[in-house]
Amino acid sequence: MEDAYGHRIAYLRVSITDRCNERCRYCMPEELQEWLPREDILSYEEILRVIRVGTGLGIRKVRITGGEPLTRRNVLDFFRAVNTIDGIEDIGVSTNGTLLASEPEETGITMAQHLVNAGVRTANVSLDTLDPEIYRQTTGRDYFDRVLQGLDAAKAAGFESIKLNAVLMRDSNEDQLVAMIRFAHERGLLLRFIELMPVSTTDVLKDERFLATGSAKKLIESEFGSLTPRPEYKTNGPASYYEVPGMDGQLIGFIGAMTNLHFCENCNKLRLTCDGKLRPCLGSYLEFDMKEVLRHPDVTDNDIAAFFQHVVDRKPKEHDFRNDYTPNRKMIAIGG
Ligand code: GTP
Ligand code: 5AD
Ligand code: SF4
Repeated sequence: MEDAYGHRIAYLRVSITDRCNERCRYCMPEELQEWLPREDILSYEEILRVIRVGTGLGIRKVRITGGEPLTRRNVLDFFRAVNTIDGIEDIGVSTNGTLLASEPEETGITMAQHLVNAGVRTANVSLDTLDPEIYRQTTGRDYFDRVLQGLDAAKAAGFESIKLNAVLMRDSNEDQLVAMIRFAHERGLLLRFIELMPVSTTDVLKDERFLATGSAKKLIESEFGSLTPRPEYKTNGPASYYEVPGMDGQLIGFIGAMTNLHFCENCNKLRLTCDGKLRPCLGSYLEFDMKEVLRHPDVTDNDIAAFFQHVVDRKPKEHDFRNDYTPNRKMIAIGG
């Protein structure tokens, strides 16, 4: 599938739940969270059908997100089923890491190991700080140690890559960037710093909290010296990578959706929300109701394929975040 601007679509991000066991301030709205009712959430069978049709149209990578995807019941069976779909070359999960060291299915095997056994290649784990108190303030939960255990479990499980996602926040973690780079280096993790995006309605998204990737880069360079751009190094997403001098080739990434004017140039993805909306862009109001199509009694795979193309044809050139964007849907229900 290709859109009007030449973006080739090969990556589907699938949010399987809007529920989460944490309460990150940049992700959840402040008002009391109400989860979506069960019947509004796509079943695993429905999601698998969408992915299957998607592979026929060129989808090669899926990333499973949430909320916290690992909180959904029978999630391992779902991952195993995704792995059997012809055409899928890469399965990733984006998680807060709190459940990676847990032992589901009472087998004495960690969640991380089950995921690897189910064919998941990459785990992207949110970690914004190494200070347990700031962690608690940011996520609303005292789970810092659990995440560290989760990272150990992920390492032991043998994912092809483990990435750390740190959302940049002025007066919160700007003094942690250097320590986080050393932490990632010691553990063989790929750390990315992410600019806050206005995807929820909370006070942390106010201007004074915003820390641009350019400012973070300067803070980092004042410790390590000039970072060397590595434009040839690419993951599937929009991060730009740099090498940190004097650290055995350690790379760090920047996801600068707000300040990088080229951010959307190579966009290759669509998003399926847990309630069945197909979204052509994270930073756009556009969303299209795949659930209605899927739940039509006579729907064929061709109908689903045509709907994919309908959405791709409407994919915007770039996101709308820089234009005083007010979100229509909270991040937790899109999955990043
Ligand atoms: P991989 O490269 O496949 O590992 O994925 P990724 O980095 O895109 O995935 P991840 O779920 O770890 O997301 C990291 C951050 O990038 C989150 O804050 C996402 O919201 C953000 N992000 C990922 N893709 C896009 C995108 O297309 N647009 C915008 N604006 N942000 C994105
Ligand atoms: N801005 C930028 N990134 C965000 N994430 C969640 N909310 C925001 C936001 N407002 C990130 C989390 C997680 C990823 C999937 O999305 O850090 O790692
Ligand atoms: Fe949960 Fe992730 Fe959102 Fe935090 S950022 S509340 S861990 S879904």
